[in-house]
Amino acid sequence: MKEVNEPVTALLAVNTIEVVYDSVILAVKGVSLTVPERGIVALLGANGAGKSTTLKAISRIVAAERGEITKGRITFQGQDITEASPYDVVRNGLIQVLEGRFVFPNLTVEENLLVPAYVRKVSRFQVKQELERIYAYFPRLKERRTSQAGYTSGGEQQMVAIGRALMLRPSLILLDEPSMGLAPQVVEEIFEIVRDLNRKEAVSFLVAEQNTAVALRYADFGSILERGRVVMTGNAQELSANQEVKEAYLGMSGKGPMSFRDTKRYHLRKRQFMYRLA
Ligand SMILES: Nc1ncnc2c1ncn2[C@@H]1O[C@H](COP(=O)(O)OP(=O)(O)O)[C@@H](O)[C@H]1O
Ligand SMILES: [Mg+2]
Repeated sequence: MKEVNEPVTALLAVNTIEVVYDSVILAVKGVSLTVPERGIVALLGANGAGKSTTLKAISRIVAAERGEITKGRITFQGQDITEASPYDVVRNGLIQVLEGRFVFPNLTVEENLLVPAYVRKVSRFQVKQELERIYAYFPRLKERRTSQAGYTSGGEQQMVAIGRALMLRPSLILLDEPSMGLAPQVVEEIFEIVRDLNRKEAVSFLVAEQNTAVALRYADFGSILERGRVVMTGNAQELSANQEVKEAYLGMSGKGPMSFRDTKRYHLRKRQFMYRLA
């Protein structure tokens, strides 16, 4: 039995991390965020804000790009993974689906899904079961199972990339810009599957997105990054109702994506502040 006052445990806790590339480029400057058990969290921000770097720092693959966590700590399921190897992180159930929906173009859809099974050494029967489990979420992939992945649509390739991650039975998936380059209807389809996986398979998600509106509709919580820093964090409903978020990220100013600095409220507040100082 759970105690009433038992604290809610974070599945993932990122605590004021700094990430530096090539020993000089400071890409992430003190980012903190939490993914609760069974949560969907959106990491929002414009191009270059540091979303991918944050995800790669968590999955530890940042090291492969000569990136280094120079400050802060990351814990996953209560274990410190700040200096873990990408391999250990994956084995513990934390998988990143890379930006640009990477698939092996010359393999079929099914062969792509089977790649992790080759590593995991499971029986044929188990593999078949796993495939059916995944096809239940992605019926489109079942139809396309024998097609060469390189010739499938962008949406199908994104599904292959997520499906392949599921073969590793993750408890947390870091999903980098799933909506990129996809038609709105396909984006919606992908996010519906994310929600379904979250509810039925208890997979948590940290989703990096530039598509703020869609991400906040499916996420429980969100954090907004600007130039490597978290500038706002909160539950998804609060964020989508926030005037500055609306102006800067939800295209309600009519000027397209901006930063908080460009919004009217920012300047108004700044003026009021200067006025108070005067
Ligand atoms: N491998 C790399 N080496 C050097 N700098 C990088 C590398 N990857 C990203 N950066 C820099 O880090 C910053 C954040 O990039 P990134 O994390 O890709 O942002 P986002 O995913 O939000 O678009 C950018 O200024 C980018 O140029
Ligand atoms: Mg990115």
